[in-house]
Amino acid sequence: MASIFSYSNPPIQLDNVIEDLDAVVGLLERNAPYTPLGGWFRPDHDGQDATSPMWFQKTWMGAEVDVEGSELFVGHERVQEAVRQFYGAEVVVPHTLFVNLMAAIPECGPVHTDNPLFRGRDRMNTPMLLLRTMFWSRLFDEWATKQATSIWWMNDVEGGGIAYWPEGPEKPPQRHVGAMANTSLVGDNHGMFHQVEPVGPFLDEPLLVSTAAELAPASDGSGDWVVMDRGVEAYRAPLDKIRVSVLWKSHVFSTEEERRRVENDTLSFDDVARIFNEDLAKHGKDFRFDISRVDDPDFIAELRNIYPEPVPIGTRTSVFDVYS
Ligand SMILES: [Fe+2]
Repeated sequence: MASIFSYSNPPIQLDNVIEDLDAVVGLLERNAPYTPLGGWFRPDHDGQDATSPMWFQKTWMGAEVDVEGSELFVGHERVQEAVRQFYGAEVVVPHTLFVNLMAAIPECGPVHTDNPLFRGRDRMNTPMLLLRTMFWSRLFDEWATKQATSIWWMNDVEGGGIAYWPEGPEKPPQRHVGAMANTSLVGDNHGMFHQVEPVGPFLDEPLLVSTAAELAPASDGSGDWVVMDRGVEAYRAPLDKIRVSVLWKSHVFSTEEERRRVENDTLSFDDVARIFNEDLAKHGKDFRFDISRVDDPDFIAELRNIYPEPVPIGTRTSVFDVYS
C-alpha cells in the first residue's frame, strides 16, 4: 500500500553550541550513575547476563524529570531558532532531554526513526509497535504532533559518527563524522532514518555488561569514569574518551492558534480501528483491525506486514542484532 511520501529536509548543523562545557561536566557528574540502554527494540533484555554494550543513558528532562541545570540545553536559543527555520514554524515546546554515554561499541546502533507521537495516542496508552505501524501507514498524519530533535556531541572520540537518510530510505545515507565536538544536528529524526556508527576504543574482545552495570565518576580522585558491573570494575576511562551525546526533543506547531485548534482533536482506539479498516477494505484486504488484540504480537505482526516499515539502503548491522 504505497502512499505518496515526503521526506524531511537535511538536518541543520550548528557549531560551538554550548559555551560553558564545564557546566555540562557538572550536569554529567551530578546525575551519575548511568545505566545501560533498554528500550522498545530490546524487550527481552532484562537479565543479569553480560549482553549489553556499554551504551548508557539517562533522562534529564521528561514527563516526571527536570534535573537542575538542564535548562542549558532545554532553552537553547540557537537550537530553537534552527527548529523554527527547519519547520517554518513559530511555536517550539521542548519536552525531552536525555544523555547517552558510550564506549567500546564495535557495531552500529539500530537504524531507526524515532518513535511517533499522535494526539491521543502515545507510548503511555498504545503499544510502541502499533504506533510505528500507524506512522508507516501514513493514515494518521493529521494527528501526528510534529517533533524536532537536536543531537549534540560533547567530544570527539575514535569512530562515533552518525549516518542519516535525508532523501529517504531508497537513497544512500549521508554522514556526520570526524570533527563533531560541540556540534548539533537539528532536524526531523521522527521522519528521517538515522544510525549511530561504532564508537571506540575498538578493543580486541567485545566488552559487554549486564543491565545492572552503572557508569559513574571514579571515587579515587583519578578523574576517570568507571563502569561497575555486579561489584566488579568492568571498564575505566577519562570522560573525554567516552562518547557523550545529548538528545533534545520538542513539539512544533506552525502557530499558537494551530496548537490550540488541534489540541482537542485526539485519536481514540475506535478511530484507529475505523481508519485502518476503511483503508484495508479499500485495498481489498480481508484482515481487520481488532481493538481487543492490540497487545497481541501476532496481530501487530500481521498488521506490520500490510503496512511495512522500510529498511534503508546502506543499513549496517546493529550491535543489538549481533549480541541479541
Ligand atoms: Fe533516534
